[in-house]
Amino acid sequence: MFADGLLKGKKILITGGGTGLGRAMAERFMRLGAAVVICGRREDVLADTSKELAAATGGNISWRGMDIRDPDAVETVVGAIFADGPLDGLVNNAAGNILARTETLSHRAFDAVTKIVFNGTAYVTLACAKRWLDLEHKASVVSIITTYAWTGSAYVLPSAMAKAGVLAMTRSLAVEWGGRGLRFNAIAPGPFPTDGAWSRLMPSPEMAHIAETRNPLGRVGEKDELTSLAAFLLADGSAYINGDAITIDAGEWLKGAGQFNFAEMLTDEQWAAMRPGKKG
Ligand code: HXC
Repeated sequence: MFADGLLKGKKILITGGGTGLGRAMAERFMRLGAAVVICGRREDVLADTSKELAAATGGNISWRGMDIRDPDAVETVVGAIFADGPLDGLVNNAAGNILARTETLSHRAFDAVTKIVFNGTAYVTLACAKRWLDLEHKASVVSIITTYAWTGSAYVLPSAMAKAGVLAMTRSLAVEWGGRGLRFNAIAPGPFPTDGAWSRLMPSPEMAHIAETRNPLGRVGEKDELTSLAAFLLADGSAYINGDAITIDAGEWLKGAGQFNFAEMLTDEQWAAMRPGKKG
């Protein structure tokens, strides 16, 4: 889909890069020539992933243990990353989520999600951006959100509130810092199954099947489809895209929204009966 070396010369930090979609983006960016830094809470996972991706791609990867909920740790780690040379891109990918009836959530449960998604995303973004502004260094930030950042969703309230906040951050900073070389976009993925998300959010095979097939294309997203969009937004050729949230869900959320979309339930006979002169 892209020219070789699309991301050559770029250094990109991916939060939550040890597993799932973060890992898939790391691999793709390496194949496109970027030097990738992955961070996360589990150092053993980061070390294994780095070793495997370096072997698989021959590309450049390093890792740093970093709990994005801890602003001091974020300052220290981002400072150390920049000490080796400035980043050119950041992917806010790390997330947490709880599928639960909202009345069962304690304030600790609420915080467990929002401290990762809302606070953590802001801490990492600001730690990078302050350095970029000081250095007058151009950069692209891509934040992974969800379509329920704008629709809201039952049973995932902390995540919905936090992702809406990340969308607001994206739009706010796109305007505030767009003229200073920093651009901010978001990606709202539909069903891209990963062990992390599916083990937590899909308690039954029936629920997973519905989540995976109810979109107009009737299938899940391929990891490469998501990583292509992220690479595109990080590449210089997309420099005029700033402040947008791009949905990659096969039309899933619109299918749920359009008032008559459910008319797909009608039979051929029922459709025929609707046409003038074709009654009966
Ligand atoms: C009610 C729950 C609960 C549940 C946890 N809690 N699960 N309450 N129902 N199902 C409560 C606990 O009882 C506790 O409250 C509090 O939440 C904190 O729980 P911990 O287990 O101590 O939290 P912690 O270890 O910090 O784990 C954080 C986490 C976890 C968010 C709960 O899932 C996590 O670390 N996730 C990271 C990875 C992840 O979730 N990835 C998927 C993101 S997918 P009390 O009061 O008892 O102390 C995503 C995209 C969605 O976001 C879109 C998909 C289509």
